[in-house]
Amino acid sequence: MTRIVVLTGAGVSAESGVATFRDSGGLWEGHDPMTVATPEAFAADPDLVHRFYDARRAALSRVRPNAAHHALARLEAALGDAVYLVTQNVDDLHERAGTSRVHHMHGRLRAAWCTVCGARHTWDGTLVDRPPCPGCGSSSLRPDVVWFGEVPYDMEAIEEALWDCDLFVSIGTSGVVYPAAAFVHYAIGNGKQTLELNLDRSDSSSDFHESRRGPASELVPAWVDEVLG
Ligand code: APR
Ligand code: ZN
Repeated sequence: MTRIVVLTGAGVSAESGVATFRDSGGLWEGHDPMTVATPEAFAADPDLVHRFYDARRAALSRVRPNAAHHALARLEAALGDAVYLVTQNVDDLHERAGTSRVHHMHGRLRAAWCTVCGARHTWDGTLVDRPPCPGCGSSSLRPDVVWFGEVPYDMEAIEEALWDCDLFVSIGTSGVVYPAAAFVHYAIGNGKQTLELNLDRSDSSSDFHESRRGPASELVPAWVDEVLG
């Protein structure tokens, strides 16, 4: 059976109404990432960082998975653990569409991490009001997302999945942030087939064996239909 690694980026959630980062009107147009998405920014102005993530966490209740998320859940339902889904996104739309194994290499909005006891908690509320850690009671919870300069999660498992796969598919990412941007090169270097499904040309479109242009809500279901025959 063909083993597939699927990488998703903000573009897979765009049609659900979740802002991307670098498109016009994207998150990084309204915010300098260096002031809201680095450990230094959090140390300098924790309230600003908490308000940025509290607003994005609250917005999750107003969005729904789109046809791309549902198609990827259908792919996992059909192929089981032959599909390894890794996402750069911190939203929970893959899970809400029914995908059971989602590897959030940049963490999750609906999680809080205690910098005192290290516990990670599912979190739907706000953090700016410094709620106590359910584990140790300290008021030192931070968003459980990976900031610039921090180490992404699950890298060893991701590299193993890329090594074992037959096909690497990249969906809805501009391909400018590492290490995710290097996955296509790693796949090609190890003789894998590669496919990109993206609205616009990305920084690595020309590296893929095939790159299809269009909205994820159309391209992903069509591709999953092709795979499942
Ligand atoms: N369908 C498919 N692709 C889309 C759609 C859509 N409806 N809308 C936008 N896109 C594509 C854009 O063409 C762009 O290439 O999604 C990509 C979004 O790029 P970015 O905004 O840079 O988001 P992403 O690539 O996920 O960013 C990677 O950067 O800031 C960090 O941690 C953050 O995880 C994020 C990482
Ligand atoms: Zn704690």
